[in-house]
Amino acid sequence: MRARHVYVLLHIFLTVGVLVNAFDPITTTVVVGIGATLGRTIYNYFRESCDSKWIAFNATGLRNDLDTKLFGQHIASRIILKAVSGFMSNENPKKPLVLSLHGWTGTGKNFVSKLIAENIYKEGMDSSFVHVFTSTLHFPHQSQKATYKSQLQQWIKGNVTNCERSMFIFDEMDKMHPGLIDSIKPYLDYYDKLDGVSYRKSIFIFLSNAGGESIIQTVLDFWKQGRDREEIELKDLETSLSLSVFNNNQSGFYRTNLIDKNLVDFFVPFLPLEYRHVVQCAMAEMKARDIKPDQDVADRVARDLVYFPKSERVFSVKGCKTIESKLDYYT
Ligand SMILES: *[C@@H]1O[C@H](CO)[C@@H](O)[C@H](O)[C@H]1NC(C)=O
Ligand SMILES: *[C@@H]1O[C@H](CO)[C@@H](O)[C@H](O)[C@H]1NC(C)=O
Ligand SMILES: *[C@@H]1O[C@H](CO)[C@@H](O)[C@H](O)[C@H]1NC(C)=O
Repeated sequence: MRARHVYVLLHIFLTVGVLVNAFDPITTTVVVGIGATLGRTIYNYFRESCDSKWIAFNATGLRNDLDTKLFGQHIASRIILKAVSGFMSNENPKKPLVLSLHGWTGTGKNFVSKLIAENIYKEGMDSSFVHVFTSTLHFPHQSQKATYKSQLQQWIKGNVTNCERSMFIFDEMDKMHPGLIDSIKPYLDYYDKLDGVSYRKSIFIFLSNAGGESIIQTVLDFWKQGRDREEIELKDLETSLSLSVFNNNQSGFYRTNLIDKNLVDFFVPFLPLEYRHVVQCAMAEMKARDIKPDQDVADRVARDLVYFPKSERVFSVKGCKTIESKLDYYT
């Protein structure tokens, strides 16, 4: 899209340039004027704007993606679909949507954020209304905590002022300085407007490994009892999840009152992935690359991963994370 509109603009200017040489000064002025107006119109036509042409939620698309591209996450999938669909179909939400996604590496937290973005914004993760903050990248130095706090506030305020349907993703919440998130707490709350800006139509997504251990323990217990993983319900995980997130002093959530003030709408657990899910990931990745999915290759990829706990070897240590690069090697 971007490359094409640059090309169109270039073409117009070249055409104008050629015409200019052929006419007298008055005609030239007119032609240049028309060229510039046309150029601007076309530029605006292709430039992403904060309206329904560029931002339109596709509930069917999200359901489809969650059903066919995300594996082993029956709880997360259900909560995400319900939360996002409900929020996006509400013309008058009382607060922004705040999701906190928890789980081990490679279980699909980043991936789900991407699916959400793709089904809301035409440009998906490339949209200028989707913002990703990574603690190690944006907020690396403990000593500059105060600066980061005000910077983050300004960014969010500036971006929501630009477009109220903005989406903010905070990756690696575990590595974020405790307290940083406090600075944006007011934005997540039930305020009509703050300094004339309403945050109620924005989406905030927090990603972290916090609580991952307690999720694994629950899933492992089910597994040991020979029970079906799909029998696990949110309530089996919720209490231990919110406790371990809140009490973990390594987490960016530590002692913030995001949690006790109920500013987080949904805690979404991501379960550790088993061998069969890794196989599904590999098959899906082949399909996405237009290679004929090959069960044999998928099995070889999955067999090559490391599984834990040491004695049972049930869950993939890196989930589906390394599948992409591994496939290059096997196909
Ligand atoms: C919504 O998603 C479905 C399924 O992916 C797709 O077929 C449909 O074209 C999408 N609708 C719009 C308006 O993009
Ligand atoms: C929006 O957020 C980005 C960081 O993702 C920041 O660089 C930019 O300055 C912000 N825009 C405004 C208008 O504040
Ligand atoms: C975090 O908690 C652990 C155990 O609860 C404790 O050993 C450690 O000293 C704490 N770290 C900080 C920075 O408070």
